[in-house]
Amino acid sequence: MLIHSASQLLTIAGPPQRGLDLGDLGLIDNGAVLIQGEKIVAVGSTADLYASYPDEPRLDARGRVVMPGFVDPHTHAIWAGDRAAEFEQRLQGYSYLEILEQGGGILATMRATRQASRDALVQETTPRLRRMFAHGATTIEVKTGYGLETASEIRMLEAILELDRIGPAELVPTFLGAHAIPPEFHGQPEAYTDHLCVEMLPAVFDWWLSQAPSRPLPFVDVFCETGAFSLEQSRRILTRAREMGFPLKIHADEFDSLGGARLATSLGAVSADHLVVTPSEDIQALADSATVAVALPGTPFGLAEPQYTPAKAILEAGGLLALASDLNPGTAWCENMQFILALACRYLKLTPAQAIVAATLNAAAALGLEKRIGSLEPGKQADLLILDVPDYRHLGYRFGTNLVYQVVKKGVFYSQADLL
Ligand code: NIG
Ligand code: FE
Repeated sequence: MLIHSASQLLTIAGPPQRGLDLGDLGLIDNGAVLIQGEKIVAVGSTADLYASYPDEPRLDARGRVVMPGFVDPHTHAIWAGDRAAEFEQRLQGYSYLEILEQGGGILATMRATRQASRDALVQETTPRLRRMFAHGATTIEVKTGYGLETASEIRMLEAILELDRIGPAELVPTFLGAHAIPPEFHGQPEAYTDHLCVEMLPAVFDWWLSQAPSRPLPFVDVFCETGAFSLEQSRRILTRAREMGFPLKIHADEFDSLGGARLATSLGAVSADHLVVTPSEDIQALADSATVAVALPGTPFGLAEPQYTPAKAILEAGGLLALASDLNPGTAWCENMQFILALACRYLKLTPAQAIVAATLNAAAALGLEKRIGSLEPGKQADLLILDVPDYRHLGYRFGTNLVYQVVKKGVFYSQADLL
């Protein structure tokens, strides 16, 4: 299929964009892209591709922007139940960490998720992932972390693999057994940390090799935060995971700065995420490393908190910045990456071009997938969006409506009607 006559084609070609280089869209006016099978074969001007490929079936994208699909590299998209009552409590003045301390928050979702069968989790999550896909997320990272015991965590991994098989969104799994201290270990974070290192990580490793031997190991992530896992506990868990060959991620500096970002760089983590209260030395350490800084502006927005990731400082230091939704039932039930871009433009002070690259190519880098997805280049997977707008800056500028006209995943076209 030759998609042609796009008012703007955003290729975002090249390597992930570091520091103030962020925002190079590789824009082609009146652009075209040729897809064969699951892959992109050629990108260029409509005139050039007409001349080189005269016999291909054509799709007219006149008046529309064509760009890579969004990559959402941080979500907790799979869970059971909801926390609407907690939202109301927070509006009345209780903080997120207070609610967690009283056995609510992550632990409330844990109780509902433990009771859900694998099939129930798949059923509850399917429409959510379809809505994310309809809003342009073609690859989505999904964390466990609402089981907090071996069997339930593995059930979540099973559900993630099944949801990936169902599609159309492609999922990237992360084991987040270190999301909170479960009730069985209440007041004993050290004992749960031991349990994670000695029992849960090896169990996940063995299960993975027996059930999904052809897939790369999932990421291992830790919520390094007051009331969750301390810096030392996080270090133990991530170090053990690294010894077993798992790639790493971390939740760092969402509320308190414990040193998680620097820990991520010292362990070679693929990304460090949240980074709201990160001190300037840690920003510099991140910028001097290969670890991607993932900002989640839906979270402070969802919590109605005034402080956001200091994206400008990260870029000025030379960091690699990505954006993600953090979709979860507690802090940020947002299924729309376009809204995340709108927040990033306003509160992280990114330009639309910077936000777009942070949510595509750099977000792919936050999953270690920048060679396969995140840009429109020959040889890459055909994951792209046709937007019903003539100028890419409508992303960021507009919010609250879905600007995606069609989604293409591995060369298959989906209209909005297909996704209802
Ligand atoms: O990234 N901070 C920890 N985890 C999620 C929230 C999960 C929840 O509240 O259920 C986050 O914000
Ligand atoms: Fe998170």
